[in-house]
Amino acid sequence: MRTDSSPQTIFRKDYTPPAYLVDTVELGFDLDPDRTVVANRITMRQNPASKSRDIVLHGEEIELVALRLNGKTLAPTEYHLNGSTLTIRKAPAKAVLEIETLCAPVQNTSLSGLYVSNGNFFTQCEAEGFRRITYFPDRPDVMAKYTVMLRADKAAYPVLLSNGNLIEEGELGDGRHYAKWEDPFKKPSYLFALVAARLVCQEERYTLQSGREVLLQVWVEEGNLDKTDYAMQSLKNSIRWDEERFGLELDLDRFMIVAVGDFNMGAMENKGLNIFNTKFVLANPRVATDIDYAGIEAVVGHEYFHNWTGNRVTCRDWFQLSLKEGLTVFRDQEFSADMIGTDSGRAVTRIDQVRTLRQAQFPEDAGPMSHPVRPDSFVEINNFYTVTVYEKGAEVVRMYQTLVGRDGFRKGMDLYFKRHDGQAVECDDFRAAMADANGRDLRQFERWYSQAGTPIVTARTRYDAVKRNFDIILSQRCPASAGQADKLPFHIPVAVGLLSASGKDLPLTLEGGKHAKGATTVVLELTEQEQIFRFRHVDERPTPSILRDFSAPVILEYDYTDDELLHLFSHDSDPVNRWEAGQRLAMERLLKLTAQVAAAGGSDAGLKLDATFINAQRAVLTDDTLDPAFRELALILPSEIIIAEQMDVVDPQAIHVARQFMRRTIGAALKSELLAQYHANQTPGAYSPDALSAGKRALKNLCLSYLMVAPDMAELKLAQQQFEKAGNMTDRSAALVSMIHSGAEAGPYLKAFYQDFEHEALVIDKWFAMQAAAPTTNVAAVRKLMQHPAFTLKNPNRARSLIFNFTGANPSQFHAADGSAYEFWAEFVIKLDAINPQVAARLARGMDRWRRYAPALQAKMKKALEKVAGRAKLSNDVLEVVTKALA
Ligand code: ARG
Ligand code: ZN
Repeated sequence: MRTDSSPQTIFRKDYTPPAYLVDTVELGFDLDPDRTVVANRITMRQNPASKSRDIVLHGEEIELVALRLNGKTLAPTEYHLNGSTLTIRKAPAKAVLEIETLCAPVQNTSLSGLYVSNGNFFTQCEAEGFRRITYFPDRPDVMAKYTVMLRADKAAYPVLLSNGNLIEEGELGDGRHYAKWEDPFKKPSYLFALVAARLVCQEERYTLQSGREVLLQVWVEEGNLDKTDYAMQSLKNSIRWDEERFGLELDLDRFMIVAVGDFNMGAMENKGLNIFNTKFVLANPRVATDIDYAGIEAVVGHEYFHNWTGNRVTCRDWFQLSLKEGLTVFRDQEFSADMIGTDSGRAVTRIDQVRTLRQAQFPEDAGPMSHPVRPDSFVEINNFYTVTVYEKGAEVVRMYQTLVGRDGFRKGMDLYFKRHDGQAVECDDFRAAMADANGRDLRQFERWYSQAGTPIVTARTRYDAVKRNFDIILSQRCPASAGQADKLPFHIPVAVGLLSASGKDLPLTLEGGKHAKGATTVVLELTEQEQIFRFRHVDERPTPSILRDFSAPVILEYDYTDDELLHLFSHDSDPVNRWEAGQRLAMERLLKLTAQVAAAGGSDAGLKLDATFINAQRAVLTDDTLDPAFRELALILPSEIIIAEQMDVVDPQAIHVARQFMRRTIGAALKSELLAQYHANQTPGAYSPDALSAGKRALKNLCLSYLMVAPDMAELKLAQQQFEKAGNMTDRSAALVSMIHSGAEAGPYLKAFYQDFEHEALVIDKWFAMQAAAPTTNVAAVRKLMQHPAFTLKNPNRARSLIFNFTGANPSQFHAADGSAYEFWAEFVIKLDAINPQVAARLARGMDRWRRYAPALQAKMKKALEKVAGRAKLSNDVLEVVTKALA
């Protein structure tokens, strides 16, 4: 909670090295939910790189009991203690500090530091949670070796875990026991973890490619041991993949994953002891969907890959967060793509990434919380675990690979580890390794880290039939963002192909280009504000396919005709651009329809959808040569949020009506084809989460959702039967969602679903989420759901399932004309803030785009924001978000 009146902004330019370095940390815990005693012995020495001789330790919400320096107890006059730091001035060159503190884990509802979840102890220290456990220089550039002694009641907490290796365990009498852990690697405090719990594990000995044997464990609560197989499999796949793709081996003898039901984020890469939100561990076909399985694979991979990109080489300061997060997201994306293995499978994962960027990152880049991949300032670092730092950061890393090639990227990675293993470094160090390993000048590339906002690339083309030249003229601009009025040109890789009239890729000859002969895709490097690229020997006017594979996180403007888009939609060999052409065709129509609905006062009377578009949709739907997963993506219309981002003044109701009209029209026009594909893409037999089966289910369930926009009796029956006969959660939940969305009487099915899964917390989250996101659910219905005995604000997954899915995924109801949902938003930002500031601040972000709505809505949104901002007791987390929104 805020103690002084105004929160402090921290600037990257103010970085100074720590005055003292830490060699070893010995921690002793006497674990008790109400009163945990932490004894901490830190061996420190002066940092030659610093002029200061002051030892500065961070501490929050802990009670100092004793403090000794080099064996001598310090009197309160010998140190300075304020709300968040403990300073010892003019300390000796070598210092051994012994610190004893108290904390109350059971009272810790913020889930940062040491806390209790379902009676068990867990920690979360990134970014600044370690200081809630003990006084320490809690900054990532202070790396030390840790030894940890855990003591706790044996019956209540039979399992005692920490980082590294178990070196000793035994009984203490009094029913208590102990375990001593030692982490052989130096680490920053944010990677510390402990678990003291009643848990069970699935474990396995696994042989690395080097022949060394390691112990792998997945720890869960007793009833969940039937849901650990996929996490274990994903862990083994991750270990193998990092060996093969990057030559990086697991450096520990033991690697543990622990699942916890109360967790703020997805998971945490603590050295050797990854702690996960249950959502990203637990799965079996009965309770988890294909999307859940994919999420588990990605997050298990992500946290495992952090062991090198994050742990062995970490961040100098939190402004460099993307150094580890952007790189590690890129690595987990590549892992997931490689696990599918096929080109079309890779493309499907790539399309998903593009959708996430447009749905969440582009809006962030254009909104009040806009920040560069490497921010220059923040108030609360927890607010900067963003789609920009993570997903745009991953795009930035991907661009290196696009520029230097896959082998060149590997060389850059090798050099990065050679130079920086064991260090805390900056984004610039990674860029330097990529540049130096490949002999490339990547100085201009730095702007991807320093400039916020989504660049807009505009393309024009001209064809000279006589000279057989085809020119692509690319120009770039980037809108102003907070504190950055003028942007300098970015270094943008733009992958391009040219299609003949028959839809074939033309072999390319780029004037001055260095590409392979006969290449059909070349990467244009746009570095200036405007540049002309000339292709020679072009025998016919081609259709350009620009920004293939989404080669840069930009908005591409090009005046495609409908015919060109249809041509690309049926022929482009680049699946991402093939999909993109379909999205452009749909978006043009959606925007026109939305304008018509708005002009007609919200009515869809008289709207029309052209046969050309419907026929193109039909062609993709029925093209059995295409991957079902690709067909599903090609048929999903741009989301209401993405449509909103294209409008200067957003009218959420008109968008919803227009999009629903389009879906209903497609559903009616393609009824027989949808039904045929529904039946053709069944996945009988035992459930498997593999990409092909998941793709079939996705396509089949998309067909169902189209048929259910305005269902007749037969279609209703189809959904009901799918619900009843489903052999897996993907099909069961999809059927239920289609019923809820259709407005059909879903009540009995919702009830049956609840009863079946009453004891599966993650499924009950889905139950809340699917109702909250349905356009048939208004704010009154959400408030009623909050009265349900299973609802609680204290569990982040549960709070998110109902509240966030309503405010974030149900735009037509969230923006109800009377503003009642905005009041709901304000009420729960405030209520959540008193429990868990990090979760509250995420909810607060839901109002980021308020200035883009029609004046009547804007006024009500502003009022809600002001209501929150005006509260006397707000966390820095929420205060930063609402202050920036109102600025
Ligand atoms: N490093 C973690 C991950 O990306 C995220 C932890 C962030 N936690 C937080 N409270 N901000 O895997
Ligand atoms: Zn991460």
